[in-house]
Amino acid sequence: MFTQLAPNKYQGQMYSQLSDEEIKYKITEAKRKLGSKLLVLGHHYQHDSVIQFADLKGDSFLLARQAAECKEALYIVFLGVNFMAETADIVTTGEQKVIIPDTAAGCIMADMAGTGQVKQCWAEIQKYFPGEVIPITYVNSSAQVKAFCGENGGLTCTSSSAESAFRWALQKGKRILFFPDEHLGRNAGKKIGISLTDMALWDRHKGLLKGCDNPRLILWNGYCPVHQEFSSQQVCEVRKDYPGIKVVVHPECSYETVEEADESGSTEYIIKCIRESLPGSSWAVGTEINLVQRLADTYKDNKIISLNDEVRPCPDMMKIHPRNLLYCLENLVSGRVENQVKVDLETAGWAKVALQRMLSIR
Ligand code: 13P
Ligand code: SF4
Repeated sequence: MFTQLAPNKYQGQMYSQLSDEEIKYKITEAKRKLGSKLLVLGHHYQHDSVIQFADLKGDSFLLARQAAECKEALYIVFLGVNFMAETADIVTTGEQKVIIPDTAAGCIMADMAGTGQVKQCWAEIQKYFPGEVIPITYVNSSAQVKAFCGENGGLTCTSSSAESAFRWALQKGKRILFFPDEHLGRNAGKKIGISLTDMALWDRHKGLLKGCDNPRLILWNGYCPVHQEFSSQQVCEVRKDYPGIKVVVHPECSYETVEEADESGSTEYIIKCIRESLPGSSWAVGTEINLVQRLADTYKDNKIISLNDEVRPCPDMMKIHPRNLLYCLENLVSGRVENQVKVDLETAGWAKVALQRMLSIR
């Protein structure tokens, strides 16, 4: 039985009478009819009932690259959240259309850096360090925030390219302003040798810079509510309960959690870690539960558990459902483009500059 949240009312009404098997059959048929005109990209956090329809799966970086390299498909349907679909729209051509099954699938962390707040922070920081700061945004941000970075000599990064992006900025002899994820910023900064005492924190609520007076890295106090649920204490407890277990976490987890874990990296890296580990090895994984569950189901020779067995799925990732996917695909078969994600040309121009810088340095 498909277990996600119900799709929006209109789409739900159209398909609520269909069984899971009928929906699966209809999606497969629609994909067959659309053939090479269609590419379905799926993020690893999607539920099994949805990801089964992806032509290509990946972490945010891989999916952005696949969208940029996709020349054949006219329609790219994105099984993920809005910022990923916007990224795909920005890096594809004007003729290609990017579609998301539920346009309300956002990202709570991305909403923690509004364009106005970012511009206010930038203006303040310029007073302290005029011309010395490079803005870097996590791709989990709006197209407008990406455009701001492109226009101001900066770039975007994903969890798998944050370290390269930071090195790129420091090689230019600059300080970094990184938003919205405080934890990814601190973890990536530490990994490339920036000490914690050389990091400052921009408080987005108070509009204040705190901590160090001469920072190499300025962090923004945003976070992912899903990854916030993992802690270094859980790492210690799981090691007591399962002697010999290894712990791998996503770098959106706190610095203390990442430090305590054996490994950390993007969703693609987490999968690689487990795929390449010895059969029989045990892993506690600190990331979104749909991915952890799939890893446990796929690598049955290993013991794979969630680092926190009470963690809830990402509510936005769960908005994508086979029913709203079918709705989009059947409309495409009938020549109608529903739920298109379209970034305006002016924003897309500078956002593309920021995204291309990211794609070219890694
Ligand atoms: P990845 O880039 O590691 O796939 O992460 C995306 C994300 O949203 C994590 O919360
Ligand atoms: Fe955003 Fe966190 Fe969901 Fe990723 S898991 S999409 S960062 S809210």
